[in-house]
Amino acid sequence: MWRGVSGQAATDVQTTSSLSARTTLLPHRVGHTRPGKNTAVFSPSAYAPRLPLPIHQVRTFRRMRKISLAPIAVFSTLLLVAMTSSVASTAWLLGRIPFGDFRGIVLVFGAVVMFYVYSIVLYRLVLLISPLREGVIDFGSREEFVFHVYELFFLVLFFSLTRTRFVPVPLMRWIYIALGARLGDNSFSGGTLLDPPLTEVGDNSIIGHDAILFCHVIEADKLALAKIHIGSNVTIGARAVIMPDVDIGDGAIVAVNAVVTKGTRIGPGERWAGIPARRIS
Ligand SMILES: CC(C)(COP(=O)(O)OP(=O)(O)OC[C@H]1O[C@@H](n2cnc3c(N)ncnc32)[C@H](O)[C@@H]1OP(=O)(O)O)[C@@H](O)C(=O)NCCC(=O)NCCS
Repeated sequence: MWRGVSGQAATDVQTTSSLSARTTLLPHRVGHTRPGKNTAVFSPSAYAPRLPLPIHQVRTFRRMRKISLAPIAVFSTLLLVAMTSSVASTAWLLGRIPFGDFRGIVLVFGAVVMFYVYSIVLYRLVLLISPLREGVIDFGSREEFVFHVYELFFLVLFFSLTRTRFVPVPLMRWIYIALGARLGDNSFSGGTLLDPPLTEVGDNSIIGHDAILFCHVIEADKLALAKIHIGSNVTIGARAVIMPDVDIGDGAIVAVNAVVTKGTRIGPGERWAGIPARRIS
């Protein structure tokens, strides 16, 4: 059963806007029994709607969520603050230094760096005021608003840092930490952490080339967040995918191309491979 916000079982997810009816979702599958899996498994897809509606009507309202005007307005305001602050501080810091022929390049580069610095500071401020909470996110809730502002920061700004290979891997470690990830000593990522604030990695661990870790569930109209915890001395293989609510013990290895699905618990020293990932030794 989904652990939900404040450790409670989440039982409601969707609202049908035109009928103004809240659907109640009940688990029809309590837990996996596969070895290596918890019985308390995060699996929003395991919840079947209990509705006084014919099933075709239920399907009608399963739509992707839309980012509303309010989070867009908040994000745009913050973006404007970051832009003006970066231009002003670049002019103030570098404007009077004679760079000769390189003046234009230096000023533009300085402004871009300052822009990302201000953006990260504002992003952290947003998360400080309204931290992301694990659990299912209701339609129209405060959590949805916060998630959408957070999401806009990545969609518009930070993916240009985290999803391109422009930034060197050793520097990416500090960018992920600045974006809220917990990375232990000597842990590096050659892949992408899509949700740094919900990702924890111990010491001496490596996220392989092009691996992807994400802590959000976006499945049709379902939206939920759950942490990923990776211990120390862990190897996440190249191109592996680690889904939300996954816990990987110290010294474990996830193979190249494995897909570690929601709610998986990998014990210390275990090796997992395949799609979906299963223990191989
Ligand atoms: C999982 C891994 C550690 C296994 O390596 P190993 O201990 O040397 O084991 P083997 O290569 O002998 O394979 C053991 C079994 O696992 C299977 N296996 C290995 N890698 C696999 C993979 N990526 N997907 C599915 N099965 C895999 C093998 O087919 C073999 O199966 P079998 O016993 O039925 O023949 C290794 O294949 C791997 O993926 N390492 C990750 C390296 C990496 O990406 N590092 C980061 C780089 S940036």
